[in-house]
Amino acid sequence: MPLTAVRAGAYLHHVAFESSNPRQLADFYASAMDMVAEQTGEDEWRCSGPNRRFVVRRGTDRKLSYAGLACRDSDGLEELKARARSEGLDILADPSPYFQDGAFAVRGPDDQIIVFGVAKADTVVRKGLQGPTQHLTFATFDVEAFEAFFHGKLGFALSDRVLHADGTLATSFVRSNHEHHTLACFKSNRQGVDHHSYEAGDWNVIRDWCDRFASLGISLMWGPGRHGPGNNLFIFIEDPDGNWIEISAELEVVHDRPVKNWPQEARTLNLWGKAILRS
Ligand SMILES: [Fe+2]
Repeated sequence: MPLTAVRAGAYLHHVAFESSNPRQLADFYASAMDMVAEQTGEDEWRCSGPNRRFVVRRGTDRKLSYAGLACRDSDGLEELKARARSEGLDILADPSPYFQDGAFAVRGPDDQIIVFGVAKADTVVRKGLQGPTQHLTFATFDVEAFEAFFHGKLGFALSDRVLHADGTLATSFVRSNHEHHTLACFKSNRQGVDHHSYEAGDWNVIRDWCDRFASLGISLMWGPGRHGPGNNLFIFIEDPDGNWIEISAELEVVHDRPVKNWPQEARTLNLWGKAILRS
């Protein structure tokens, strides 16, 4: 089947999370993640920094409201919509404020709302630390279903897999452009989001992020380290709701290579040392 999502050049444009205390969460992203927070409704805040956007809506802590993936152009978007239809997926209305007319959403195997669209031009150009929204990862009971949906039905490319000793999937990494993963999914004893990530691009920028967190009294919860799949440098912090935020750099650029299978072991998650194994 064609790699329709890759042909569309989709990339993670924004994420929207629910929170029982949306003002507190928006304030955290404004200060820690170098964004400007604006209240855009009774129960909605939008935070934005340079090429990163985080929406907060009142609801259940740690629940993804939706993820917005921007396509390169309307031709790619229409091709992806036609593919989704031909695969029998329900085409849902676009809940996002960031996309032009023609955007659509689909519901993933764990009820994730994934929106595809062509981004509206930013009316305000934000300045600040570098770190575009880059990837979103899920926790699930069924990684095979994640792969069947995003690779099998929408045409994301498989980059890497992590396998348990019995051959079942521990993690799957899929891409919709040349970056190693746009989405990934970890086998877990819970369903939801594992983490979302911002790509700093350069090790020295990760240092600057860490200095910013230090000045705010925010401790790293994991890292620094280097992942096996994707080969990216990383640090993690946690927001007040318990969402995991990753700052990453040097993520592998993939053109054409076979899918690599990695063993589920600490070294795969962190070549440098301590790992947080999800299964
Ligand atoms: Fe990540």
